[in-house]
Amino acid sequence: MLPKGNFPEKVYLNGEIVSAEDAQISVFDRGFLFGDGIYEVMVQLENGIFYKKAHLDRLQENLDKIGIHYDVNEIDDQLHTLLESSNLTNDSCLVYMQVTRGTAPRKHSYPKGVPATVMMYALPYTLPAINPKHMKAILEPDFRWHRCDIKSISLLGNIMTNESAMEAHTDEAALVRNGVITEGSHTNIFFVKNGTVITHPANEHILNGISRQIVLQLCKNLEIPVIEKPVAENDVKDMDEAFFTGTTTQVASIAQLGEHTFYTNDNLGKVTQKLQEAFAELRTVDSAQSTL
Ligand code: PDD
Repeated sequence: MLPKGNFPEKVYLNGEIVSAEDAQISVFDRGFLFGDGIYEVMVQLENGIFYKKAHLDRLQENLDKIGIHYDVNEIDDQLHTLLESSNLTNDSCLVYMQVTRGTAPRKHSYPKGVPATVMMYALPYTLPAINPKHMKAILEPDFRWHRCDIKSISLLGNIMTNESAMEAHTDEAALVRNGVITEGSHTNIFFVKNGTVITHPANEHILNGISRQIVLQLCKNLEIPVIEKPVAENDVKDMDEAFFTGTTTQVASIAQLGEHTFYTNDNLGKVTQKLQEAFAELRTVDSAQSTL
């Protein structure tokens, strides 16, 4: 029995659609024992799954990075069946998927010849065209590992820092490693200074978000200058604007970060607003096969 909560009715598990109540995996699944797996989160909007190909490509890249042998084309084929059986074929929804290294006796080294465990589900989910929030965020030490580029299902550092943000009655935690801001607990972070957009480079200290990459592409189209460099915690006070990006966050303006207030009275910055509008425009086209 599942506890009360917003669970899907159906789950895709290893080639079959099963009821969420009956979906079962082994306690020896390496996802359960080691957090040994990769996940993706995407949203279906008015025109299909937003940047579906980009998400699936990232899933394949991440599986390849950690040596899980699985061809994501199989998921692509099954996504339609999942949406159909969830009665969400043409509806706004969130799609979660994860692939683990499968079931094997507990041993750190990778088992050979074990099929991956593949699970996905879809839930009704709507997103406004523009995120209306004026986010407040705390600054937290980034004590995560040095491979944050991997979209690992092991998210302990992310959930602990996010919980700190919730306890502080804020929306997000921006993470600080070696004096610089890397990303949010489940978002990427951008700053604006004198009209230039600044964000942490895509290296092993951040997840290279699909929304991050979309925003960089929008900056190029809109001829907004970009510098991919980290912003020091001490320099936040000198920035003009800041915003978070993410699949469920879209482009969210930051009103307050740590001790620094960027703006009050919903008076968000011009560049953030421009990018929010351009991001919202993308919903009017079918981006499922778009690349970044
Ligand atoms: N989080 N950084 C981290 C640490 C993330 O977990 C995420 C996404 C992002 C933004 O990535 P994208 O634009 O591709 O969603 C950046 C997802 C949504 C989650 O864990 O639910």
